[in-house]
Amino acid sequence: MPEFSVRTARLTDHAACLRLARSLAELHERHGSGNAAAAEPMARQLLRAAVLHRSCTVLVAEVDGRVVGCASARLVLSPLRRILVQVSGGARAAHVDLLVVEDGYRGRGIGAALLDVVCRWARDRGAHSVDLQVHEFNRSAAALYEREGWLDTRRTMTRTLGRG
Ligand SMILES: CC(C)(COP(=O)(O)OP(=O)(O)OC[C@H]1O[C@@H](n2cnc3c(N)ncnc32)[C@H](O)[C@@H]1OP(=O)(O)O)[C@@H](O)C(=O)NCCC(=O)NCCS
Repeated sequence: MPEFSVRTARLTDHAACLRLARSLAELHERHGSGNAAAAEPMARQLLRAAVLHRSCTVLVAEVDGRVVGCASARLVLSPLRRILVQVSGGARAAHVDLLVVEDGYRGRGIGAALLDVVCRWARDRGAHSVDLQVHEFNRSAAALYEREGWLDTRRTMTRTLGRG
């Protein structure tokens, strides 16, 4: 298996990030949450924010020059108040918005490596913690987080509303 490397994304990674973000959105859509059509604007926004603001980052993992993984994170004032910090310094925490590895490249440590780089990025900018959200259906992703030392600290509950 060829080695992988992790680096900061460039604007030219746009198409690859979009492809990966779409696959994540499709997974969520299949489980009744999320909207695959929103993946494109979201990926574009995340990349643009990372280029413009030091408080945001997008990372990609590459194998043989192919982008096969993507993670994005931003500094926030606190896990409970998702306020974007435009300048670093006041942030206490970071939030992972996106983590996805291309099917076929999973299970070889790329996801864990992307999370490690996110944590290093956040620590270097004064964050004391990093958080993320994972859907209940996604037991395999949750297993990875638990294995990597992430703790379940709170729960988001959702009530699906019928029409009228
Ligand atoms: C979750 C995800 C990012 C992990 O990436 P990865 O590169 O496979 O992660 P690692 O190789 O570092 O760790 C593998 C672990 O991830 C979990 N995992 C989740 N889905 C997996 C898959 N399809 N294949 C292999 N491992 C998977 C397993 O717990 C595995 O643990 P193990 O090695 O002890 O069996 C990746 O599976 C993925 O992109 N899944 C679809 C999108 C998603 O769910 N994103 C997270 C949203 S919160």
